[in-house]
Amino acid sequence: MNLFRRVLGYLRPYLWLEAGAFLAMLVAQAAMYVTPILTMNIVDNVVGRRDVRLLALSTGGMIVAIVIVQVFRGVTQYLTSLVTQRVLVDMRRDLFDRSLRTRYALTLTRQTGDVVSRLVNDLSMVAGLVGQTLIDVSTNILTVIGGIAVMVYLNWRLAGASLTVLPLVVLTFALFQRRYYVVGMKLQRTTGLVSAYATSALQGQREIKTFGNERLETENLLRRMTLFLKASMERAWVTALSGGIIQIVCGMGQVIVFMYGGYQAIMGRATLGQIIAFTNYLGFLYGPAQQLTVINLSIKSTMAAAQRAFEVMDLPAEDDSGRRALSHSVSEVNFEDVWFGYSEDKPVLKGCALRARKGEMVALVGASGSGKTTLISLLPRLYDPWRGRVTLDGVDVRDFSLASLRSRLGVVSQDIFLFDASLIENVRYGRPTASPDDVRRACAAAHLDEIAAELPHGYDEVLGERALRLSAGQRQRISLARVVLRDPEVIILDEATSALDSESETTIRETMIPLVSRRVLIVIAHRLSTVNQADRIYVLDEGAIIASGPHSDLLESCSQYRRLYQEQFIAGK
Ligand SMILES: Nc1ncnc2c1ncn2[C@@H]1O[C@H](COP(=O)(O)OP(=O)(O)OP(=O)(O)O)[C@@H](O)[C@H]1O
Ligand SMILES: [Mg+2]
Repeated sequence: MNLFRRVLGYLRPYLWLEAGAFLAMLVAQAAMYVTPILTMNIVDNVVGRRDVRLLALSTGGMIVAIVIVQVFRGVTQYLTSLVTQRVLVDMRRDLFDRSLRTRYALTLTRQTGDVVSRLVNDLSMVAGLVGQTLIDVSTNILTVIGGIAVMVYLNWRLAGASLTVLPLVVLTFALFQRRYYVVGMKLQRTTGLVSAYATSALQGQREIKTFGNERLETENLLRRMTLFLKASMERAWVTALSGGIIQIVCGMGQVIVFMYGGYQAIMGRATLGQIIAFTNYLGFLYGPAQQLTVINLSIKSTMAAAQRAFEVMDLPAEDDSGRRALSHSVSEVNFEDVWFGYSEDKPVLKGCALRARKGEMVALVGASGSGKTTLISLLPRLYDPWRGRVTLDGVDVRDFSLASLRSRLGVVSQDIFLFDASLIENVRYGRPTASPDDVRRACAAAHLDEIAAELPHGYDEVLGERALRLSAGQRQRISLARVVLRDPEVIILDEATSALDSESETTIRETMIPLVSRRVLIVIAHRLSTVNQADRIYVLDEGAIIASGPHSDLLESCSQYRRLYQEQFIAGK
């Protein structure tokens, strides 16, 4: 019920619109009930009495009623769609925003496609409930109650006889209730499966092709689609079967009206007009009665969809309790006895200590998997250490607000992500408010002009999904330009030049040196030639820093470093 209240909460800003829809619906409903009475009047009074004036009045009334019904129905539909779509926008905004603010570790455990499916499919179902279903339910209740009242008023005997079928209709529907629900849930879940799989597979097209696994992937998707197909066909079957049975029962209802009504008419206790009016009213009643029977199920499956959507919205948000703003420049970054691991029993970082000061170049080297990327992820607080702390000028990073902390950091990460936007927009991502001059300077520093020159639209060329058309080195240069533009206090380059040849690496380093010289700079690299000029090199081995110092010292004192160096030296020859 809490869930239901939460869903309804989204309706609050649009209550007036919803109330308008409700009123319009009342008018349409009332007008609809007038027509059978007018029909009855014509059959019973006009023809018998040859009253032309009454005929004109009744038919005129009919025209008015017909127009009113349609106009007000239109208004209801328009308003309910408006409410539904508005609510949908609000819900999607919240879900999207929340999934961006979830703790990083949790976002990694979710499939993108699955989240998208909740954003698109589940939420549209939920919004439909708020905007549409509520109005439908009240319409249906009013139709049923109003219809019965009018029928009883007109002829209670006939009403009693014709309404005997109504419980039958309701019963048939009730019998199918559970199946509807189960099938609906299955459909929703299998839709998620299909979109999650397709999304993730389409992102790996390069691997699929080079490994020649197209058929395998198609078959994998087919298996999921078969589940979806089965669920869809199950629903089609249940709908067809229940629909058929219900139509038969409804047909019987009409027959009963004619049978009993005809008998009553022969006995002089009912008029022909009444019989016609009754069959009309009965027709009004069946649809709403059926819908009311399944309403709790439709609400139930909508609640299941809401549950799926709220599950994402309720993922714990990042801790952002720090209140300090990082306004001054940063002159020192310190990792103090930092312990951290991704799973509780397995520490990845074991008491790491590292210090980097303004104007220095600090490097981090170590074998693959030794924990370099993990260590620097603690600085922007993608993760928090188990023990120990990371500080900026002696203040724990957890004491700053996330926004203020991250605005001072610039990271070129190992896996570069470029957005499906133009080259220039991808650079500007580093600082969206930057002036065109600053953007130009950043582009020049990372030597992007050469890349732009080769693209048909230059800097305005749209790069496509993840910019896979560009070479790895080109992508790295764009990512470097982003960080230069951001002009952060602390710069972290995680294998930021690994895809560049030594020559372009040197050129870019030279253009970047003046930009980074007054900053704190931490560089991670496998290629020791990249880092041998560093003021201090930290050697990370299985999560522990085993040595630190300048290149020449380490060569003498650290056997691990010597080995790394010799391996590369020999390989380089
Ligand atoms: N998100 C994650 N969840 C669980 N384990 C992880 C995660 N990221 C990294 N690891 C593990 O933590 C260890 C350190 O990984 P890390 O990425 O820090 O290594 P690295 O030193 O940067 O390696 P490389 O030089 O290959 O980039 C590895 O054993 C890795 O499997
Ligand atoms: Mg790494």
